[in-house]
Amino acid sequence: MRRLGRATSLKLPETYKGLRCNDCRSIYEDDAPRGRCPKCSGLLDTVFDEDALTEYSPKQLTDEAQTMWRFRMFLPFKRNVDPVTVGEGGTPLRRVKTFSASVWVKDETRNPTGTFKDRGASVAITRLSQSNVQKLVMASEGNAGCSFALYSKMAGIRCRVYLPKQANPIKVQLTKKLGARLTQVPGTIGDAGRHASKTAAKTGEYNASTFITPFRHDGKGTMALEVSEQLNWETPDYIVYPVGGGVGLVGMWKMFSIIHRLGWIRRKPRIVAVQPSGCAPVVDAYNRGKQEVEEWKSPTTIANGLKIPKPLAGKWILKSLRESKGLALKVSDSEIRSTMRRLAGGEGMLLEPSSAAAFAAIPHLYAEDSVDEGETSVVIATGSGLKTLEQF
Ligand SMILES: Cc1ncc(COP(=O)(O)O)c(C=O)c1O
Ligand SMILES: [Zn+2]
Repeated sequence: MRRLGRATSLKLPETYKGLRCNDCRSIYEDDAPRGRCPKCSGLLDTVFDEDALTEYSPKQLTDEAQTMWRFRMFLPFKRNVDPVTVGEGGTPLRRVKTFSASVWVKDETRNPTGTFKDRGASVAITRLSQSNVQKLVMASEGNAGCSFALYSKMAGIRCRVYLPKQANPIKVQLTKKLGARLTQVPGTIGDAGRHASKTAAKTGEYNASTFITPFRHDGKGTMALEVSEQLNWETPDYIVYPVGGGVGLVGMWKMFSIIHRLGWIRRKPRIVAVQPSGCAPVVDAYNRGKQEVEEWKSPTTIANGLKIPKPLAGKWILKSLRESKGLALKVSDSEIRSTMRRLAGGEGMLLEPSSAAAFAAIPHLYAEDSVDEGETSVVIATGSGLKTLEQF
C-alpha cells in the first residue's frame, strides 16, 4: 500500500470539524465511525471550518502527489491522516471532438478499478481503518462493490457485498477475486440495500452503502476541485453527470460551493442531471418541482449504475440541483447504446452504459435546452466499458 507524506506545511490549520445531520442539525465531533444520525436517522454531512480553509490557497497544491489526496484539506480528516490510496483521482480532462459544441471529458475510467467510485472508497476506507473497523457490508450495482473490495483488501478490512442478480458478470468476478464475500439477490439495488441493512443490524458490520455512510461524497467531490484546477480556476458553464444514488452530484456541488465562497473560483457551474428514460426518478421529481424523489416503479434500463428506483438522498440531490439552477434530462437506452459506440470509434473512449448516458444528453442539451454552442460542458466519464463488454 502506498502511503503519502504529510501536508505541505505543518503550520496550516485543521479544516475538518465533524458531522452534521441534514434533518435535525445535530453535530457529532467525535471520531466514531458513524452512519445515519443516531437521533433522527437523517443523513449526515461532513462539516469543514471555512475560516481555517482560507489559510489554504491553490498555490499550496503544487508539490503534492497527483492524486485526489492533494486536496486533503477538503476531505474529512485531521491533517496528518495516513490515506489508504492507490492513486485514485488526478484523472485527465480533455476536449471531446465528437460533438460540435464545446465539450470536455473528465476521464474517470483511469481510476484503479476503472470508475470514479474509487474516490469515495479511498476516503471511506481510510476513515474506517482509522477507527479500527474490521468488517463492512454494502449494497452496490457492481462498481462500488469492486472499489470497496479493493480498498478493504488493502486495509485488511473484511468486506461483504450485496449485488442485484443482474449485475455485470465482470463486476461480480472482480469483487470476488478481490476477496469480498458476495451475495447476489433478486430485484434492484433497493433490495440489495435491505439485505445490507439487515446484515449490519444483525452482525454489527459497518454499513458502507450509499449515503448510509457519510464518508463517500467528499471523495467524489474532489472531481469538482480537479476540474476547476485543470481549467485554471475558470469553471465550465455545465457539469453533465449521470445520476444514480447522487453521490457525485451532491459531492461536487458541495465542493464547488465551498471553493466559490473561498474565492478560488469566480462562478459555479450549473449541474445537468442525466438519467435513463426507464428509470428517471430524479429527473421527473426535479422537473415537476418536487422536494422529494418518488420511487420509480419497475425500472428497466441497460444503465445498471443508474437503476436506482429511490435514491436515499433524494431531497439533498434536488436541493443541490435547484441551488445550481441545474437541468435534468432523460435519454433512451438506444441513445445510450449508439453514443457508447460513437465514442469508442470517435474518441477511443470505451464507456459503460451508465457513463455513456451523460454524453447521450449532449445533443439534447445544446439543441433543445437553448444552451449556446460556445458554452462549455464538462461531462464526467464515470466508468470504463471494460467491465460491461457484454453490453457493447
Ligand atoms: C458508471 C457509473 N456512473 C454513474 C453512477 C451513479 O453514481 P452516483 O451514485 O454518484 O449518482 C454509477 C453508480 O453506480 C456508476 O457505476
Ligand atoms: Zn438527526
